[in-house]
Order: sequence, then structure tokens, then C-alpha cells
Amino acid sequence: MLEQLNSIEQEGLAALEAVNDSAALEAWRVKYLGRSAPLANILGDLGKLSKEERPLVGKRGNEVKRALEAALEAKTEALRQAEMEQAMTAGAVDVTLPGRPVVRGRLHPATIGLRLLYNVFAEMGFQIFRSREVESDEFNFELLNIPAHHPARDMWDTFHTSTPGVILRTHTSPGQIRAMRELGENGAKPIRVILPGMCYRYEQITARSEIQFLQIEGLAVGKGIRMTDLKGTLTEMARRMYGASVRTRFRADHFPFTEPSAEMDVECFVCGGKGCGVCKQSGWLEILGCGMVHPTVLKNGGYDPSVYSGFAFGMGPQRVVMLMHGITDIRYFLQNDVRFLEQF
Ligand code: FA5
Repeated sequence: MLEQLNSIEQEGLAALEAVNDSAALEAWRVKYLGRSAPLANILGDLGKLSKEERPLVGKRGNEVKRALEAALEAKTEALRQAEMEQAMTAGAVDVTLPGRPVVRGRLHPATIGLRLLYNVFAEMGFQIFRSREVESDEFNFELLNIPAHHPARDMWDTFHTSTPGVILRTHTSPGQIRAMRELGENGAKPIRVILPGMCYRYEQITARSEIQFLQIEGLAVGKGIRMTDLKGTLTEMARRMYGASVRTRFRADHFPFTEPSAEMDVECFVCGGKGCGVCKQSGWLEILGCGMVHPTVLKNGGYDPSVYSGFAFGMGPQRVVMLMHGITDIRYFLQNDVRFLEQF
């Protein structure tokens, strides 16, 4: 029995020497270490041996088993190494190839523009107030001094919903009333807010106009606020956005919810005011509408116009970004074309 074990060991180890692929290795394992291999049979039949023989055969049998198992493990590792080396030298894995670049996400240019403006206004003490995109006719028009059938409604081509009186806001100005009532506690407290968000207009889509676009509204209400505060705040905003030496100008305009009303232009920073294609040879770029909050609007927000006054403005941050980067078409913002987006 002991001799049989010795020859199993010798024969097994010798056979393993000749193995040089994983299929042959598996066949070897089944033959020498499998459940019906001679070694397993001997170890399984130990009970049939005499009392004297049993410990000797058992001890030697286990030694042979361990020796074969250790040899199998070493051979498995050697074959794995050999296969890897072969694959590398055969060119399957070229370890000298550069890795694949990891693509980094980035902010959308409109978000970059919004954040720049948030920072500028935050430094001037404005807080952000988010109003709603689905509005009522009452807030979008009536409370802003634009009654039904008023010709000024033509300035805002409106998307109506199937619910009468419920529309998509055409500008961020209805948020003025909500901010005055909620943050100003119906005229009890002064407020200084900006209201960013999407607006919708049923308009022709062109290089300068989208049917869905961003606006940032600004509103300051308090005692003794004057037109000079409006001009100073907006001129400072322009300087922080476009550089300390940029010039601004205010032109009279008309909005039903402000009196007086104006549009603000900044000096064209592309040509420095000399006249170029971007400013249509005028030297100036129009960036926002503004004015002193109309007494009727203050009243609708809960303030007493004989005590409180305020200024408001509304701008298109996408147009501000377009001017900063010389982007010629507003439609790029919503097209999701990576060739455009990865430039920012
Ligand atoms: C208004 O919407 C007023 N609510 C602004 C205002 C607020 C005036 C408070 C006074 C006081 P206007 O229609 O001009 O104004 O729009 C303001 C800005 O929104 C424009 O200067 C432009 O930058 C942007 N804008 C307007 N329509 C579009 C459009 N279709 N596509 C992209 N941007 C637009």
C-alpha cells in the first residue's frame, strides 16, 4: 500500500512536469486528485485496513495528497504567468499604449453667466428669490399694471395653457409681486432680491430670440430709493461684469410696471465704442430694461407708495454671455451640441 502511494506521488509529479496548458492541467487534477482517483480510493478505504497499517498508510496518504496539491498550485501559477507573457509578446496587450482620457464634465455657459451675475448681486446685498414658471394672467399682467385688452400686452406674446387664466410666464416680473408679498411681508419690510429663471414667449425663433430663455429680474424696495440708486447699482454691475472702465448709458423707454422706465446700454467692449459688427456700428450694446417701480405695482405688492419706493430691472443673462464670448446665435444654448459646450 505504501509502495503504491510512493508510485502515485512519483508518477503524478512526473506527469505534471509535462503539462503545459490549462486543459491538460484540469485532466491531471481529475486523474490524481479527483474523487475517484486511486489516491482518494486508498484514503477512503482506510477503515478496511488493519489497526497497525491504518496510521502508517493514512499518514503517508495525506503527505502524498499535500505534495500533489502544492505541485498543482505551483503549476497553475506558472501557467498563468506564461499565458500572460505570451499574450503580451503576441501584442494582445500593449502596455505602452497611453490610457484613455477621462472626460470631465463642465458647466453650461448659461449657468456660468448666471453664477457670475449671482456673485455680483450677492456682493451688493441682493438675495435670490425663485418664483414660478407657470403663472396666472393676474400676476404676469394685471398686477403689473397691464389690464386685459391693454395694448401693452402685445409686447409679450404669450403661451396659454388649456386652463383659462393660467399661462407660462413671459418675463420674471410677476415674481416682483410675489417677492413683495412674501419676503416683504406685504409691505412691512424693505427687500433687495434678484429673481432668475426661465421665461416663455410665443415668438419667432431667431439668432437673438428663443421661445424659452432665461431672465434675471432685480427688485429693491425701501424708503427713499431713487433713480440714482438704480443707475448706480446697474452701472456697478456692468463694471464688475465687463471691466472697471466700461461706460453705460440709460435711454428712456416704456414699461407699464415702471415709471420712469429706461433701457441700459453698455459701451461695446469688442470695439471700445468705436463701432463694429457686434454693436451694429453704434458703439453701444443694449443689455436690460429697468425703471422705478410704478406706484400701482408697489400697492399691489402691499407697500404704501407714499412711504416706499423702489427700482426694478430685467435682463437676459444668455445675451450677456453672448456678448462676453462673441456668441452669434442664442439657439446654441439649447441645442446641446458638445462642440459648442466644450468651449466653456
Ligand atoms: C421685460 O421682459 C421686462 N419685464 C424687463 C423689466 C423688468 C423692465 C423690470 C423694467 C423693470 P424685455 O421684453 O425687454 O423686458 O426683456 C428683457 C430681456 O430679456 C431682454 O433684454 C433680453 O435680454 C431678454 N429677452 C427677451 N425676449 C427674449 C427672447 N425671445 N429670447 C431671448 N432673450 C429674450
